[in-house]
Amino acid sequence: MCGIVGYIGNKEAYPILIKGLHRLEYRGYDSAGVALVNAEGNINVYKTKGKVDDLESFTKDKDISGTVGIAHTRWATHGEPNDVNAHPHYSQSKSLAIIHNGIIENYAIIKKDLIKRGFEFQSDTDTEVLVQLIEYIKTTNKVDLQRAVQLALTQVIGAYAIAVVEKGNTNQIVAARKASPLVIGVGDGEFFLASDATPIVEYTKKVIYLNDQEVAVITRNEEIHIKTISDVETTPVVKEIEMSLNELERGGFPHFMLKEIYEQPRRIAEAMRGRINVDRNRVSLAGIIDNKEKFINAKRIIIVACGTSWHAGLIGEYLIEEFCRIPVEVEYASEFRYRNPIIHKDDIVIAISQSGETADTLAAIELAKKSGAFVYGICNVVGSSIPRNTDSGTYTHVGPEIGVASTKAFTAQVTVLALMTLTIARLKKTIEDDLYKRLIHELAEIPEKMEKTLATNAKIKQIAPIFTYAKNFIYLGRGYNYPVALEGALKLKEISYIHAEGYPAAEMKHGPIALIDAEMPVVFIAPHKGIYEKTLSNIQEVKARKGRVFSIITQGDREVRKLSDFCISIPETEECFVPLLASIPLQLLAYHIAIAKECNVDQPRNLAKSVTVE
Ligand code: F6R
Repeated sequence: MCGIVGYIGNKEAYPILIKGLHRLEYRGYDSAGVALVNAEGNINVYKTKGKVDDLESFTKDKDISGTVGIAHTRWATHGEPNDVNAHPHYSQSKSLAIIHNGIIENYAIIKKDLIKRGFEFQSDTDTEVLVQLIEYIKTTNKVDLQRAVQLALTQVIGAYAIAVVEKGNTNQIVAARKASPLVIGVGDGEFFLASDATPIVEYTKKVIYLNDQEVAVITRNEEIHIKTISDVETTPVVKEIEMSLNELERGGFPHFMLKEIYEQPRRIAEAMRGRINVDRNRVSLAGIIDNKEKFINAKRIIIVACGTSWHAGLIGEYLIEEFCRIPVEVEYASEFRYRNPIIHKDDIVIAISQSGETADTLAAIELAKKSGAFVYGICNVVGSSIPRNTDSGTYTHVGPEIGVASTKAFTAQVTVLALMTLTIARLKKTIEDDLYKRLIHELAEIPEKMEKTLATNAKIKQIAPIFTYAKNFIYLGRGYNYPVALEGALKLKEISYIHAEGYPAAEMKHGPIALIDAEMPVVFIAPHKGIYEKTLSNIQEVKARKGRVFSIITQGDREVRKLSDFCISIPETEECFVPLLASIPLQLLAYHIAIAKECNVDQPRNLAKSVTVE
């Protein structure tokens, strides 16, 4: 998604802004730009389609001086990705420049009105409409920039994180947000601005998260002043961020995605630390214990999420229903928010999100809160909007996920769902003591088993190039491994651009079997658990139609191995924890196929890391 960086201080802004844009590249974008206020107070805007490197080439012979500046990576919404639609945008008189994340939904009406008043537009963007509106209000009402921004934003419907600089004002940036994140970094005599903390962390750990409808005036050598768009003063709260610069670097791996796949054993162990006791016979999650009456009495749990987080939610459904005996529904947040769902006061809504900023999930939370349900968040990014808008929750604590395709965040979400399940089941007394202890013990073993699973990397790397010919893939699994099939297929399509579909294995006969021929790779998640025999029959059906079978099996399994063209073994574990291991070879398979196809795995085309618009 679009990225914002800003700087004001005693250093040259340009190198800091460019470095910040590089740090935000993981979010996905198609053009980049920068606006600098030089010592004479002139605003220089430079922008170009393509990558931040292209912007750097473009600015080689330009005036890039100035200690105040704003910069942007754009992920096109209104208007195609080109130089003109890239941000920043000037206002008509070029006295203002703006960068914007989000969508102004009523931009067309405002634009029509401004055109009537003599404004001309260079781009197709909603953002240019906003900066023209600010300029119009500023000149007609004769107010300062902060007031003009406040008044303009009262007319706007939609989501925004914006930063504005002004000609002749070498000391100030005005920034505002609604439903799109914005963080101010507080340094020593300098301030930073960013859409997430990644560009800030190497300069300062002190940050202020702007709240919805707040407008901040960031002035050189002064305190930050914040007012709401309806002109109520608020007190900025400075928080410490936990992220370290080290966590943002690739650490010797060729791609962030591979680094994050390999981090899983350590990160999952960290996600469990302090939550499973040292004797490995007790789980306790503070968020659940503090609200135990709610969980004990819950009539239903509704899980809302998008994409990979939604797949984790499906595994949560299997876990919670099996061990806590509470009915669970798993909803796409984007559908839930618009379909007038029935939500009761004794429902618990669990929102799952890596970024904590997904627009649809946030809207689903708002809806659930309005209906009086208790809302619990499972989130990775500390201090992001979802944890701030839920009643309680659990962080996954796996560190920043930079690769666009989610890997470690997924296994961490499943881990947290498993910890929640065990905590609730114990409270509700729906689990036998022996089983409870056995599951905890096994969960605590998972990081070590993940390490063993990662040893399959070399074999997967060897097999992957064989599949670069494929135009389609089918992924099949049953029970806990049905969501794993969905997730495996999503990983492959995201980064290798090969069409892939996941199905519950038994559904194959109800349609997809028609697609199977000698060209079709079929991935089976077939551990020696649960309804193994049934999966075995499904594999036979595929082989009978000459499909090419790639299967994930339990170590020592002979039968599936015999039937498969390619086989990857994972360690034996409890059925409900198989997803934590089986998803790793699927992540690696997608990664190596994408690499063999020379795809950009960390920044796949058209994708954004954090989807802050609906
Ligand atoms: C896929 C992926 C996306 C996200 C989805 C939700 O690899 O990363 O499908 O899972 O956009 O994002 P979060 O979890 O940040 O709400």
